[in-house]
Amino acid sequence: MRFTLQPVKGEGFIDRQELLDEMVSELMDTKSTTGYALYGKRRIGKTSILKEIQRRFESEHKIVAVYFPVWDLIEFSVVELCQRLSMEIIDAYRPCLGLRYKAKELIQTPLTMLRKLLDSSEFKIVYRELEFLVSLNLRKGIDKNLLIEHTFSLPEKLAKSTDTKCLLMIDEFPSISELKSDNSKIGDAIIKKIRTMFEDWERTALCISGSIRSTMKLAILSSASPFYRQLIIKEVKPFEREHTEELLSRDFEITEDGIDEIHNFSAGIPFYIQFIGKMLKRRKRVTLEDIKEIEEEFLREEGDILFKEEFENLSSKERLVAINIAKGCHTPKEIANEARDKITNVNRFLKYLEEKGYVLKKERGYYMMEDPVFERWLKESFI
Ligand SMILES: Nc1ncnc2c1ncn2[C@@H]1O[C@H](COP(=O)(O)OP(=O)(O)OP(=O)(O)O)[C@@H](O)[C@H]1O
Ligand SMILES: [Mg+2]
Repeated sequence: MRFTLQPVKGEGFIDRQELLDEMVSELMDTKSTTGYALYGKRRIGKTSILKEIQRRFESEHKIVAVYFPVWDLIEFSVVELCQRLSMEIIDAYRPCLGLRYKAKELIQTPLTMLRKLLDSSEFKIVYRELEFLVSLNLRKGIDKNLLIEHTFSLPEKLAKSTDTKCLLMIDEFPSISELKSDNSKIGDAIIKKIRTMFEDWERTALCISGSIRSTMKLAILSSASPFYRQLIIKEVKPFEREHTEELLSRDFEITEDGIDEIHNFSAGIPFYIQFIGKMLKRRKRVTLEDIKEIEEEFLREEGDILFKEEFENLSSKERLVAINIAKGCHTPKEIANEARDKITNVNRFLKYLEEKGYVLKKERGYYMMEDPVFERWLKESFI
């Protein structure tokens, strides 16, 4: 297996056995509509889990798994979400429906032609959906509630007509709350609407993921959120050392010290393990010195690409607070002393950083950076 920076599934997929077994056996049950909410840090492997689940259901004819990443939206509009999600759902159902063409090709076909292409009775339901999608491009100012209703009832409709269960997997679900319509945010109302529909589903299970703890909390995890108690919540955690070892030793000979070094550097976050592995592959032998050198090179060269822009998007006060945490200050008081600012201000910026997913409040009054590699990059770049 080659090291990769893309989400993995199948042969390249490591660990998560217990979580996957549990999810697959629950989701396999055609009588259950229980779903899952996966949360975890950036780059920890959420997308890979959803894609691996989808792969495991490929040969299950009773279950149709749809994978949809919200981050792939370009305009971030409700219409775009509904159009693209509907097409994804129709495409996932192509084998069940015997549909030869992809939804994207079909919506580009004139309606009169479409009638000819899709004349058998099985296609009736798809035809109506496609007609609706095509008309969206022509109509302006369509009722957004209607649109959401239409889209989120599609899996239920298709599942009923094909006697299957639909597994709707929405990656980075909380980002739906950022959706805009006519320049105003209506995302939160949409999340509530989806939830109301979800209550009535009989053949659709929802699996969602999210990386930023605070937005995930608003959408799912807190008791005030619409989905609380409707989804089984699971945290995706970093790899244990044995899985770091499994990932690294598939591709080259590496000493125990070497594995320890990479495991500590990456904090078990698979993205960094893959990245260091990829860089090490260029070398013939892998000694501890090589590894340390590569880690430095990674921080210098890749770190700038990965972190710089995000860091520069923070406000100057937020940056200062982050740098001071990287310096080793963990309490608001220590940070305030270092930054020569008031504790109340520091608390405010800590809250912003927490909301943006950079800072983790470990316990009352004690803050850490979420990502230890980002923290190390801060240390080496600014301290
Ligand atoms: N189970 C796994 N086995 C091996 N590699 C993995 C595994 N999970 C994730 N990775 C690697 O980690 C990286 C990040 O994975 P993935 O995109 O699934 O994470 P994510 O949590 O969805 O990230 P993001 O926050 O960027 O959306 C990829 O390089 C992937 O190859
Ligand atoms: Mg992802």
